[in-house]
Amino acid sequence: MNRKKAVVVGALGVMGRYIVDRLAALPDWEVIGISRRQGTDRPRVRYVSADLLAPYTPDFDGATHVFYAAFQASAGKAADYASNIAPNRDMLVHAVSAIERVSPALERVVLITGTKYYGTHLGPYRTPARESDPRHPGQNYYFDQIDWLTGFQRGKRWTWAELRPQTLCGFAPGTAMSIVPVIAVYAAMMKELGRPFAWPGKPGSGTSIYQVTDSGHFADAALWAATDARCANQAYNITNGDYFRWRDIWPALGQVFGMDCGEPAPLSLTAFMADKAPLWDAMVKKYALKPHRFDEVVAWPFGDYVFNTTWDVMSNLTKSRQHGFHAVVDSEAMFVRLLTQFRRERIVP
Ligand SMILES: NC(=O)c1ccc[n+]([C@@H]2O[C@H](COP(=O)([O-])OP(=O)(O)OC[C@H]3O[C@@H](n4cnc5c(N)ncnc54)[C@H](OP(=O)(O)O)[C@@H]3O)[C@@H](O)[C@H]2O)c1
Repeated sequence: MNRKKAVVVGALGVMGRYIVDRLAALPDWEVIGISRRQGTDRPRVRYVSADLLAPYTPDFDGATHVFYAAFQASAGKAADYASNIAPNRDMLVHAVSAIERVSPALERVVLITGTKYYGTHLGPYRTPARESDPRHPGQNYYFDQIDWLTGFQRGKRWTWAELRPQTLCGFAPGTAMSIVPVIAVYAAMMKELGRPFAWPGKPGSGTSIYQVTDSGHFADAALWAATDARCANQAYNITNGDYFRWRDIWPALGQVFGMDCGEPAPLSLTAFMADKAPLWDAMVKKYALKPHRFDEVVAWPFGDYVFNTTWDVMSNLTKSRQHGFHAVVDSEAMFVRLLTQFRRERIVP
């Protein structure tokens, strides 16, 4: 068997975890997972604790593939994370340059960026966005990461691929950006407070077109991008492959919790939830939930960001389909499945 050795950088994140799991299920992959927190080793998966803000010296060699899914958020609004340039550029440089140094058989580096490349976080933009569309004006750490990686790769035998997902749907305690825990904990808290599962976004947000990316589906795409010859030195949009309006799917999400939606009620989740940690702690005890701290189970600024997008958010997926990635996910069914799973696994009541 021709065994491949992957290094997943950011291995405990809302994408990294799922990439590790995807590769660990395949007999011909060995995985090293890097993050500051230590993961639990299992057959063919070893976790390495390292802070990539500082230059890095690997304690392994011979990587064939790198999946770069590390990320540092900044304080404040989620829309501003894109301007957190220095740490996000430095972590990529430290990780990839060090891993490349000890990996003469390196084949591909998969860099995960996102649709903020097009300015989805800033206001209306050309939709459906194509990979060849221009970068948004202004700063974004994706631009620094892409420019560094493509320059560093030039003239070498390995290649890169860049993936641009939108609003990940999975579970990774401590992540700054995942919408499913926002919906799940919002529903649970409102139910506890005797309130409806009202749409909390401002007018126009529930009726614009939106798209998301299932974390498991994204891991499938990352594996394809790492191994398909057509993906060498190419960028791809990766989403579920469908579009929806929150207004249309919100009632089905409320049904998972047996809740009615009532009328939309615009709400800053960050402000409203600021004093609710004691209520959450009481709910954890009352309903025998998994003991996640309030601030690690959910990140409200991300909810406010996603739920207050009043313009269409749409990626064109033609290129990934033409290059061989055909999987799609029904987003409404995905939300129902994941929210049901969150309840079953006692993350929320
Ligand atoms: N989540 C989304 O909805 C979404 C959507 C589109 C694009 N993206 C992009 O995808 C990329 C990955 O984001 P994500 O949401 O998957 O992030 P995430 O869930 O927050 O995961 C980040 C990972 O990086 C690790 N990390 C952070 N600082 C580190 C450091 N100094 N040294 C080593 N490891 C470090 C974290 O683990 P430790 O904290 O233990 O170190 C974690 O494993 C970002 O560029 C993001 O913009 C995300």
